[in-house]
Amino acid sequence: MRKQIVAGNWKMNCDLAETEALLNVLKSQIIPESTQVMVAPPFTNLQHAFQSVKDHPITVAAQNMHQAENGAYTGEVSAAMLKSVGIKHVILGHSERRAYFGENNALLAEKVATAFRYDMTVIFCFGEELIDRQHGREFDVVKDQLKHGIFQISENDWKQVILAYEPVWAIGTGETASPEQAQEMHAFIRRTIAEHFSEATAKEVSILYGGSVKPGNAAEIFGKEDVDGGLIGGASLDAESFMAIVNAFK
Ligand code: G3P
Repeated sequence: MRKQIVAGNWKMNCDLAETEALLNVLKSQIIPESTQVMVAPPFTNLQHAFQSVKDHPITVAAQNMHQAENGAYTGEVSAAMLKSVGIKHVILGHSERRAYFGENNALLAEKVATAFRYDMTVIFCFGEELIDRQHGREFDVVKDQLKHGIFQISENDWKQVILAYEPVWAIGTGETASPEQAQEMHAFIRRTIAEHFSEATAKEVSILYGGSVKPGNAAEIFGKEDVDGGLIGGASLDAESFMAIVNAFK
């Protein structure tokens, strides 16, 4: 049975005090055993967050990492550094990394390979731009991102992959994909994995939807057959909203 997951991508938000305050509220909540809850604070708060929630059913993930083992990469953070503070999950390929920092499929394939060398679980993000969808290219774009960003891995590696389909036009815009649009793309992603790997792997991988998920729309989106949860941005910064989304599975 593939996992139901709700992950909060805090992006560049929350200083140490705000991190502790938000985590204290989440720690006080009853988290359904059926759902894996993750939070992804900024680098500066990862060690504190990991220590703060280590006795609670909350996983802490990094929002990114460099592909190199170490070296002259000012401002970057390596897999070894993340592991040294207890972090075993990392978001890779977020559209903001692709758009603002020039991360392309080839670079992301290197980052994925490094993450697996360090036995980390990868939350791999991808999704089409509005213009792609307006021209009917969304499936080609998503297939290309998967094929050249993560399909180089072995069948066994898929046990450490969580996919996050995030249509760029829905991120931070309030313009959520409809449940039907999400289901259509998630089913396509699962079929594509089955074609390139196996039905068993395709059935097992959790595919999250991200892009303006809110308490008011989460239940309908999560209720779709091939949607296994969400990668939440803005709503993850408010404990009440985030917990409403965590509890949205029927
Ligand atoms: O990684 C999740 C994020 O991109 C979605 O952001 O604010 O639309 O929920 P938001």
